[in-house]
Amino acid sequence: MIAIKLGGSFITDKSKYRTFRKYETERALKGIIKFGEPFVLVHGAGSFGHILCKQSGFPGTYKGKESQLSRVKYDTCSLNSMITEILLDLGMAPMSFSPFHLRRKDTFDYSSVLRSVEGGFLPVMYGDIYIDGNDVKIYSGDSIMFDICNLLNPTDAIFMGDVDGIFDRDPKIYPESKLLKTVKKQQDFNTILNDVTGGMGGKYIAMKKIASLGIRTSMMNGLYPERLSDLHNDNFYGSVIE
Ligand code: IPE
Repeated sequence: MIAIKLGGSFITDKSKYRTFRKYETERALKGIIKFGEPFVLVHGAGSFGHILCKQSGFPGTYKGKESQLSRVKYDTCSLNSMITEILLDLGMAPMSFSPFHLRRKDTFDYSSVLRSVEGGFLPVMYGDIYIDGNDVKIYSGDSIMFDICNLLNPTDAIFMGDVDGIFDRDPKIYPESKLLKTVKKQQDFNTILNDVTGGMGGKYIAMKKIASLGIRTSMMNGLYPERLSDLHNDNFYGSVIE
C-alpha cells in the first residue's frame, strides 16, 4: 500500500479563490490508479481553504465569525466532493474523511478510516478546519499523512505537488534553483512559501517525520504522474528523503 497526498498548490490555483484544477487532478488520479498499487489518498485545501482562512483571521477565535467559518468548511468539503466525484467516475469506491469529524477531546480518531480500508474502500482524507472550544484550528493534509502512515505503515508516502520535488531554493522565484534528488533528514529547510499551515517548511517537517518511521518518503510533480513508474529506481524524477 502507498499513501499519496495531492498538494493544494497542485490541485488548485492557490492564488485564486476556489479555483480547482480539474483536468490536472483527473490526470494525476488516473496515473495513480494506473500505477496499480493499492493506495490511500490525502489532499490539501489550496485556494478552497487558505485564502478565506487568512482573510478571516483563522486559526484563532471564530466567535462573531461563524458564517465565515461555515463558508470555509463548505469550501473544503466542495473541493473534496469534486475529487471524490472524479474517483467515482474512474470506477473507484472512495470514502471521505475530514479531521473536523475525526476530532475527539485532544486527538484524532482514525478508526472509521481504518474500517473503510478493511471494507475495501479508498479513504480520501483532506486538510481542514476543526473546532477546539472557541477557537478554530487547522489540521493539514501533511499532518494527516503522518498519522495515516503511522497507522497503516505503507511502503511509500508520496507528496505530489506543482513542482518536481524539493529544491535548494524556491523554484518559482529562482529559475537557477536545483532539484535535490535526495534530501537528508537532518537538513534544515527554510520556509519558502507562506500559507496558514506553514508552506514548504511545514510540509518538509511532516515529510521528515514520516521518513523517520522507515517509510520511503518522496515528493514529485503531479503534472507527470507517469513518473511513478520509476518510483523505486534511480531514474525517479523527484526528491526522496533519506
Ligand atoms: C489546509 O490543508 C486546510 C485549510 C486551510 C482549511 P493543507 O495544508 O493540507 O492544504 P495545502 O496542501 O497546503 O493547500
